Amino acid sequence: MSGIKVDYQMDGALLAAADALANDAARHYATLRSRELDYTGWVDYAAGVTEGEISEVKDIAGEIRAKSDALIVIGIGGSYLGARAACDFIGAGHATSQGTEILFAGFNLSAAYHRALFEKLDGRDFSIVQISKSGGTVEPAMAYLALRELLIKKYGEAEADARTYAVTDATGGALRAEASERGYSSLSIPSDIGGRYSVLSPVGLLPMAACGIDIGAVLRGAREAASDEETAACLRLAAVRRAIQDAGKAVEVIGCFEPSVDSFIQWILQLYGESEGKDGKGMLPTGASFSRDLHSLGQFFQQGNQIFMETLIDIAEPAADLAIGDLGTPQAGGASAGALFAGRGMNEFNSAVRDGMTRAHRSAGVPIVTITLPDQSAEAFGRAVYFFELTCGITGLLMGVDPFNQPGVEAYKKEMMAILGGK
Ligand code: PA5
Repeated sequence: MSGIKVDYQMDGALLAAADALANDAARHYATLRSRELDYTGWVDYAAGVTEGEISEVKDIAGEIRAKSDALIVIGIGGSYLGARAACDFIGAGHATSQGTEILFAGFNLSAAYHRALFEKLDGRDFSIVQISKSGGTVEPAMAYLALRELLIKKYGEAEADARTYAVTDATGGALRAEASERGYSSLSIPSDIGGRYSVLSPVGLLPMAACGIDIGAVLRGAREAASDEETAACLRLAAVRRAIQDAGKAVEVIGCFEPSVDSFIQWILQLYGESEGKDGKGMLPTGASFSRDLHSLGQFFQQGNQIFMETLIDIAEPAADLAIGDLGTPQAGGASAGALFAGRGMNEFNSAVRDGMTRAHRSAGVPIVTITLPDQSAEAFGRAVYFFELTCGITGLLMGVDPFNQPGVEAYKKEMMAILGGK
């Protein structure tokens, strides 16, 4: 399978500044590989995962699929974004449309959201999996309690236990204690992998397998991304992102042209935001989906305050095409519009949007990086995950921050607990 390609459209001075950081990037890469830093278990996780570990995940997923029309994945942040990204991205969401439906909860405290979820589950067989490294995060804990109650009402306690799964720390935390006590089928999150870098561990692999995704292929893709060529591309991209920050850009708009990639961008926003946004540093990552956002934010991108760069995620071979000729001559646009569309595919127009937008935004001076993923296969997903993780880790180290902690996330939790009178 061909790899990930990166193309840069920006002033030569920015690329020269990035070149000057090449040695530092290589040094930081060596540090990452040496594993002397905390929470860097993700660096070679895909290479070290055993066939036995893969089979264990597949067996649990097979059991869930056999008895459930729906699986509710309960988690927040790094404990659900990667799984959701995979289910939407791979085959452009095709896997989720077959067999067990994967639904998500635990990332908000909206009663209306959860009531609507309960309604969706009405009359259907379902199971739940709580994913939490700490085992004590409030949002998933509350969603879990609500869904456990529903399970018990429907199936009774013993069957509810058989339909409750856990992915959590191997030994610590409330969820591990409960899983051991009640005998839930469970998997462990490696202790040296933090939440947002955990999608290729059981955190992401179990929901993916339950969704019908070939997790062996996902891991193969991640291993392929560790090639010399792609590693060099990550180091270069990290240096360019640092050079763009140094040049004063404060925002990175990460956009795509396939809606099935939107959730993957949400995953990148957490990865970049939580890893790089500290010590008063970092570019605020924000997502965009095109063409949609060209008709909402496009005006700002073209003529607004030029505080941003753009990273475009493109797919070399989209999951499908749709030729207008397949549907007959379009009526709506009249004869001239018909002549423009007739016999041409949607992908040709989508590429023209990408190229037209790039030209227009370059004329406004926006630095643009285009990252082309080969396709929307399971391999390409694994490959892209590792690519962005490595780029992020190196960018953070180039910025002089710890890309593997998230001390700022705790602040709101403390305030919330003070308001609720908890500890
Ligand atoms: O990246 C991270 O560490 C966080 O986003 C966590 O994944 C998130 O806060 C959820 O934590 P936990 O898995 O402990 O419930």
